[in-house]
Amino acid sequence: MKNILFNKDIIQRRVQELGRQISFDYSGHEICVIVLLKGAFMFASDLIRSLTPKVRVEFMKISSYAGQNSTGLVKIDQDIDYDIHNRHVLILEDIVDTGLTLHNLLDILYKRNPASIEICSFLDKPSRREVHVSVKYIGFVIENVFVVGYGMDYNQMWRQYPDIQIIEGD
Ligand code: PRP
Repeated sequence: MKNILFNKDIIQRRVQELGRQISFDYSGHEICVIVLLKGAFMFASDLIRSLTPKVRVEFMKISSYAGQNSTGLVKIDQDIDYDIHNRHVLILEDIVDTGLTLHNLLDILYKRNPASIEICSFLDKPSRREVHVSVKYIGFVIENVFVVGYGMDYNQMWRQYPDIQIIEGD
């Protein structure tokens, strides 16, 4: 059973707003956009098309897993092949949940000495946060519900929906 939380028109409007804000903030600068696979692919595809500054697009695939401490660990499954030293990096994520993935990824990327790193996440689920992560650009804040669509999956399925749907029970 699925209910639509954000339909495709609302999503597109919000993504265009984000695009305008980011374009304004980075006006005159080149952005190195890092898209986190797989979940952010659809959001990134829409957002990047609305950006007006010079944009370089890179893709990264990471997975997080619980380590022996509560902050977890991140495994890089696919790294970027670009030196971000002195570059303005913008990470595109589909959802921030516990924050562990981004918290650990930031540690890794800051060691590469970029000029700046900001995060843009389509969704934010603050009630689930375990570690603080500063997310500058957020599409929508949601409650603690399980959502699919617009790139997000349940067991790798349903990423293709152009809207965001809530999964309720089984
Ligand atoms: C999801 C999502 C984020 C992460 C958020 O990725 O894309 O990267 O979990 O969770 P956190 O804030 O608790 O760390 P997932 O592992 O489902 O991979 P996917 O992007 O390939 O779907």
